[in-house]
Amino acid sequence: MTSSTDTFIRAELISFAHDPGEGNTPCPGSLEHYADGLLWLKGQHIHAVGHFYEVAPSLPENISILDYRDKLIMPGFIDTHVHYVQLDIVASYGRQLLDWLNDYTFPEECRFANHAHAEALSNAFIDEMLRAGTTTAQVFGSSHPGSVDAFFTACQKRDLRMIAGKVLMDRNAPDALLDGASGIADSERLIEDWHGKGRLGYSVTPRFAPTSTKAQMDAAGALLRNDPTLWLQTHLAENSGELDWVAELFPGSQDYLSVYEKAGLVGPRSTFAHGIHLDNGMRRRLAERGANIAFCPSSNLFLGSGLFDREAAKETGMAFTYATDIGAGTDLSGFGTLKSAYQVGQLRGQPLTAWQGFYGLTHGNAKALSLDSHIGQLAPSYEADFVVIDPQATSLLSRRIKHSTTLGERLFALMMLADDRAIYETWAGGQCQHRRDS
Ligand code: GUN
Ligand code: ZN
Repeated sequence: MTSSTDTFIRAELISFAHDPGEGNTPCPGSLEHYADGLLWLKGQHIHAVGHFYEVAPSLPENISILDYRDKLIMPGFIDTHVHYVQLDIVASYGRQLLDWLNDYTFPEECRFANHAHAEALSNAFIDEMLRAGTTTAQVFGSSHPGSVDAFFTACQKRDLRMIAGKVLMDRNAPDALLDGASGIADSERLIEDWHGKGRLGYSVTPRFAPTSTKAQMDAAGALLRNDPTLWLQTHLAENSGELDWVAELFPGSQDYLSVYEKAGLVGPRSTFAHGIHLDNGMRRRLAERGANIAFCPSSNLFLGSGLFDREAAKETGMAFTYATDIGAGTDLSGFGTLKSAYQVGQLRGQPLTAWQGFYGLTHGNAKALSLDSHIGQLAPSYEADFVVIDPQATSLLSRRIKHSTTLGERLFALMMLADDRAIYETWAGGQCQHRRDS
């Protein structure tokens, strides 16, 4: 049966059913590739995927098929760590983390006390994300609860799958940003109003250990114990000045991670941004709890924070995800994030394959966020969130693609050369939500 909500798209399709492994060719069965494929949508979900010649006989008569045979469709990109409230301070010159926070970030976040500003930036941020091919993100608001109301309201209007939270911070920042006792009560109200509503989810969001008292982090841990379906997002071990500060503020703690462990913040739905300056003991403890580190390569390069060690993560079993960390990151694009990840990897002698990169950006990130039964793959019953990529978007990309003989080479060219010009369309919830100006 078809209905008016059915959509048929003919294109090259790529999706990862499993981790492709570290080799130069993907592990058998991990990659699903249809050079001439058909994607059949019913309402908000994918109904069928396959080779065109296989699916075509089961198609109803008199349907119209979108012919995207010169395009490549992948699952929508996922960004596990980003600050929508920092969109307007992206590319602020010349500071490292703690000065950057004081000079640019905190003053900017103060503006979110104004609800009209929060609404305008929520919409601007979502437009930018969709332009970059990102359909799901785990997002920091500011400490003002209204910043999260504005963001979720904007996401709900477009039926996006998004996770977000109000920043908790009750010390060591400008008074205008400190939430004190109301921080937890405001988080509870936001959870009640938004968590599990449609495709929205709440992430409890203590900014990082230096800006929350132990009492506030303990209370955040209590929220998580009370509802294990909540997410947790914060920052960990990004910068050496930050490490010294945490050691000073928590003299009784064995190390940085144990501050979060004692508060009950480390679990399978926890994302810790950065994790550059960890030892293997901390990596193993994160692995045991099933938490993930958000690797934010453009941010780590921009703030001069350090080079994330992917090999150490793999050796210790610590999960990591790919993220932009706008406004310290310099690129909202998944392609740009993978390009920076490749460059960081090269500086560490750990080059990143395109298979690993695109798996990570889609299925891998979905899995780390416990969303892998909903998004991250092109497969029946999955939510219809995907990107339509134009491999001819720029003349250089087009030249390089023409000289590629394998799929691996083409994907690597996209990872290194593509940007939002290569995102022809972004679909979420079965609807085309962004189309590039041709
Ligand atoms: N550590 C605490 N807050 C922040 C932030 O907003 N951005 C980054 N990159 N690191 C942080
Ligand atoms: Zn961040």
